[in-house]
Amino acid sequence: MGRGAQVFRLDGGNATYAFAVNERGELQTLYWGGRIGERDSLPAAHSNPEAASFDSPYTTTPQEYAGWGAGLFTEPALKVSFADGNRDLVLHFVRASPNGPQSLDVLLKDISREVYVTLRYSIDPDSGILARSAGMENKEKQAITIEQAAAAQWTLPPARYTLSYLTGRWAGEWTLNQEPIIGGARVIESRRGSTGHQANPWFAISRDASPSSAGPIAADEEHGEVWFGALAWSGSWRISVERDQLDSVRVTGGFNPFDFGYKLQPGEKLETPVFYGGYSDHGLGGASRLLHHFEIAHILPQAPDPKLRPVIYNSWEATEFNVDEPSQVALAEKAASIGVDRFVMDDGWFGQRKNDHAGLGDWYVNAEKFPHGLKPLIDKVHALGMDFGLWVEPEMVNPDSDLYRKHPDWVLNFPGRPRSESRNQLVLNLARPDVRDYVEGFLDKLLTENNIAFLKWDYNRNWAEPGWDQVPQDEQKRVYVEFIRNLYSILENLRRKHPKVEIESCSGGGGRVDLGILRYTDEVWPSDNTDPFDRLAMQDGFSYAYTPQIMMAWVTDSPHWGNGRATSLTYRMLSSMQGSLGIGANLNRWSAEDFSTAKRLIAAYHSAQRTIVRGDLFRLISRAMAANFPRLRLFRPTRIKQSFLRSRMPRRKAADFRCCNSQGLTRMLSTSSARSKGRLGQELRRARPVRGGCATASNWNCAETFRQPHSGWIVNARC
Ligand code: DGJ
Repeated sequence: MGRGAQVFRLDGGNATYAFAVNERGELQTLYWGGRIGERDSLPAAHSNPEAASFDSPYTTTPQEYAGWGAGLFTEPALKVSFADGNRDLVLHFVRASPNGPQSLDVLLKDISREVYVTLRYSIDPDSGILARSAGMENKEKQAITIEQAAAAQWTLPPARYTLSYLTGRWAGEWTLNQEPIIGGARVIESRRGSTGHQANPWFAISRDASPSSAGPIAADEEHGEVWFGALAWSGSWRISVERDQLDSVRVTGGFNPFDFGYKLQPGEKLETPVFYGGYSDHGLGGASRLLHHFEIAHILPQAPDPKLRPVIYNSWEATEFNVDEPSQVALAEKAASIGVDRFVMDDGWFGQRKNDHAGLGDWYVNAEKFPHGLKPLIDKVHALGMDFGLWVEPEMVNPDSDLYRKHPDWVLNFPGRPRSESRNQLVLNLARPDVRDYVEGFLDKLLTENNIAFLKWDYNRNWAEPGWDQVPQDEQKRVYVEFIRNLYSILENLRRKHPKVEIESCSGGGGRVDLGILRYTDEVWPSDNTDPFDRLAMQDGFSYAYTPQIMMAWVTDSPHWGNGRATSLTYRMLSSMQGSLGIGANLNRWSAEDFSTAKRLIAAYHSAQRTIVRGDLFRLISRAMAANFPRLRLFRPTRIKQSFLRSRMPRRKAADFRCCNSQGLTRMLSTSSARSKGRLGQELRRARPVRGGCATASNWNCAETFRQPHSGWIVNARC
């Protein structure tokens, strides 16, 4: 980190980030890119000129954190309303203070009002990933309302760029979209109160080096410059990527300003989430690898060396809500026989939970299903050599529950208006201190009274009427912030009190995956779509932003419940073995051969797991090449019955099954894996090695490789 003539510079990994105070007193972005030499100096900042009378220097100059005022026509970082009606905010530099060797706090203040903003910067020396956030403080004599607050703004100079981002829907998450960045703004966001399936708070911007100015621009997988970012927030969020009127690209991300309004009383502060940003000159592949290693080293609760995920068995697809002691014991015995490490009982064990119409909120053990409590089942699971995990959905309540009957005022709602139910449930208002305490209290009791190693923490709907009428009208919108802060604090306290308990973040599949929740959760459930072929494309999309270490993937039954596709057990196992492996099939229907195949492959997986989930991941087949292979076709439920799993899905045509069987499996395997020495290599060789080897690999000595139709992966063990 360096400072000279009000120029500030942060170096880490292969990246340098620099900004400076310009002659007007604004904090101006200077540089973000490849690492520059120790002795190379950066020029002092000077604001950009006005562009005719229409665009003043305030809007043409890239600022680190621009207040809305003074004729700013690009996206503001901060927009404020003052008690007297003034809405003009112009932030100038006050001072900078180092905060550790790689960190810096910069204080800004409005030109006349007592509104202070502290910008926090911290760079990771290994990856060069920068953590940025902002804290606002109101030192006025009256309250102010924050209408828009970004965690950070990033600016890139004019050039041709491609934007990559991830979108999806329930059972069809993790679609990678790529498009040229043209004039105007592309907004990716969630207005749902939580992260959402629809878009994920991650972006990557690749610089197009080709001389041609026409046609679509393809981001390069292994070459070229890429800037990327991920927002650590599990509530409503927004990232806008705009190409401004002078062709600079500005990225602004933070709280979603839609329906936002955070009233700050005199002396109060508001902290934004962290927006991480990084730079790679090894294409999108290099960007993914930096993020993967950063997540492992700095984000996950067990960082910097999180335990490899146990191979789990989950009962959901086998028994749905029909859990009871004998059925779970029968499954546990079979799971143990194939080498599973952890047995997880899913939904259905509590309250009057016979289906999804009742019981959420009543977190006592259902006495009909478990007359002696959970202990006999947990003891049995332990005796079988596994640890025990349990499903919960703490933030929700069914109207048909004792909890709702007692506390109908605990749900998000606008009084006098309908309370929209989704999956027959309502959202508890976790922003309320009493609700927060109830949720933490029952979870603490559950974990204290039972020997539970793992919680699958589910969240099966989004917000509809986000009302909080117990606080004054002008404070009700704080719900967008307080709810998530309380969620994080519950998770943090539970982890502190029960340090051995691990947690999975699930939201009807991949609806809550972000670097905020990952500070408190060890793994995620990427999708309720467990079809192994569809999962290959989803897992590919997932890998752009998130490490395979956290990517739980179950082997379930065939034909698949969602689309009717039939696949072999080996295919299903290999698809799931690309992340953290789980089994979710109904083991009561398995043949002796199935048990022996699974046992063999779980043993192989155990021996190769560290390489798979912690090695350097290379996607071998470019997306352009992948166009030759069938693309993921997503489910469209036409009728929802009782639960997600009962949704009716159109059946696939036979032709699709052929593609899957001939192209999916064979292309997942490669001669490189056959060359590898481990047990997994032998398994893959025995299964179906592909002739001809792999096009792009350079270091094969100790690589385990999986290839798939949409993208092949190399996991390079760095040994
Ligand atoms: C949605 C999850 O994604 C599923 O895996 C399962 O846990 C169900 N909820 C249970 O209701």
